[in-house]
Order: sequence, then structure tokens, then C-alpha cells
Amino acid sequence: MSDQALETVSEISALRKLVASRRQQGATIGFVPTMGALHAGHTSLIEAAGADCDFVVVSIYVNPTQFGPDEDFERYPRVLEQDLAKCAAAGANLVWTPDTSIMYPDGYSTDVTVKALSRILEGATRTNHFQGVTTIVTKLLLSCLPDIAYFGAKDFQQQAIIRRMCLDLNIPVEIKTCPIIRDTDGLALSSRNAYLSAEEREAGLSLSRALRLAQEKVAAGETDIAQIKAAMQQLLNATPLLKLDYATIADPTTLEDISTVQSEMVALIAARVGTTRLIDNCQLAPAATEKT
Ligand code: PAF
Repeated sequence: MSDQALETVSEISALRKLVASRRQQGATIGFVPTMGALHAGHTSLIEAAGADCDFVVVSIYVNPTQFGPDEDFERYPRVLEQDLAKCAAAGANLVWTPDTSIMYPDGYSTDVTVKALSRILEGATRTNHFQGVTTIVTKLLLSCLPDIAYFGAKDFQQQAIIRRMCLDLNIPVEIKTCPIIRDTDGLALSSRNAYLSAEEREAGLSLSRALRLAQEKVAAGETDIAQIKAAMQQLLNATPLLKLDYATIADPTTLEDISTVQSEMVALIAARVGTTRLIDNCQLAPAATEKT
């Protein structure tokens, strides 16, 4: 836990001034962008930033442009006081809470789009979602100018897109992806889990079960990707209350579907449970081939 009081700012100029003065003193800057409603997944990112960097900035901003018209922007949980306490306990030094007049000034008309990667998987049903994410993340990174920015592996496509974007735009920030944090029952932590009833939460457990099934099959030497996908889909489709969007196996960098086993693979699932969209994923490691 940090021994310094947590500072909060909302203006970009105040953020830049504090970060620049720390940098002048030789500090490395870690940055954790969030939309608030922090859970242990977020605090694990803040802790990872604190382990690597001298000064840790967290942003809290519910970004309107990444929500579709029928999505949960209005009801997205906003619990700033609780979030600030969690940031302090996890060792953050500065929390930046910009508002919409700062992030989208009057007459705003510039977007950042990572083309192909944003159209598939989540992007196939959530049109414009990733354009909203890449636009805001560019603005957050350019405002904070950190050495390292931290993202959770749960939003696997998001971190892949942000990596591509930083490469393409030569944004001088290292992107670190931190492991998914799960509840003891296996459900990946998400601020949206708060929307789930007890029955819906039980249905949501099928995502991590299907991923475990895929991991077990690959570890046992199964090489038929179509068969592994079919097994995941069967388990998910048999779950009451759950409507499967996709359960697939892809290359971790291009996110393109694969049909044969390769050394690095990611299984990705999205499903709707009631009105809540859940996503989850895991890396798949093929069984080691015995050398003779
Ligand atoms: O992952 C999130 O919470 C958001 O997509 C992010 C990266 C903070 C951008 O609004």
C-alpha cells in the first residue's frame, strides 16, 4: 500500500503537470485506464503497475462512444468514492477523472480505427465499439504519456487491438496484458457481473467450463480444432438462459480463426445471459510432442 495520499485531478493540464514533474525526478509512469466500478481484476492491474513503475496513474471515465445505442451506458455502475478507496489500497498515486466536455469537446470530429481487427468477434455485433475504445485510449495515452499501460486479458480482443494501434501510430508506450482474475467458481470478474441474477450467474459459469474443456482436450493431445470448437459450443448451447454468440479458437495476434493446431492459440467465447453480454477466453497450449 502506498504511503502517499492519493491525488485526484480532472483537467488534462493538471494531469500533465504532475506526470511531468514526477518524470523529471526520474520516475517511471504506469497507467491503468478504467471505466470505474473497480473489481479485483482492475486492482491487480494497479498492483502490477506499482510493481513495475514508480508512479501509478489510474483514469476513471465511462466512455460514451464505446457503447451501442441499446447498450448499458446509462446504467453502467458509477461508484467513484468506492473506486478511489480501491485505487488507494492498491497503491495508485494519482486518479484522473476527466469529464466528457474534456474528452469530447464541442465540434469533436476525429476517430481512431484499427480496421480489420475491430470488425470481427466482438466487433461483428458491437459495431463502432472498438472505434470508441481506440479513440478514447489514444486520447488517454496522449494525455498521460506513460511508460507502460496495463490492460486485462479478459478483454482479449481489446488488448490485441490496442497493441496493433500503438504499433501503427508509433505511440511510445509499452502495453502489458495482465491475467484474468476469476471468482472462486470460475466466473471471470467483470463490472457487468453485478447485473446477473443467481440463475444467470450459474449459466455464466458455462463460459469458463467450456474453456476448461478446450484446455483439457488440447492438453490431452486433441489436434482437431473443429472437434474442440464443437465440444465448447455443445456445452454452451446446452446451458439454459444462455444464448451463444461465438466460441472459437484463434491466433492470439491476428485473432483469425485457425483450423489446425499451432504453438499459440486462444479460445474466445461471447454469450448473452439474460440482457448481459459475457466474454471470456484462455490461451491453449498444445501437448508437448515427445522428442525421440
Ligand atoms: O477496458 C475498459 O475498461 C475500457 O474499454 C477502457 C480501456 C478503459 C477504455 O474506455
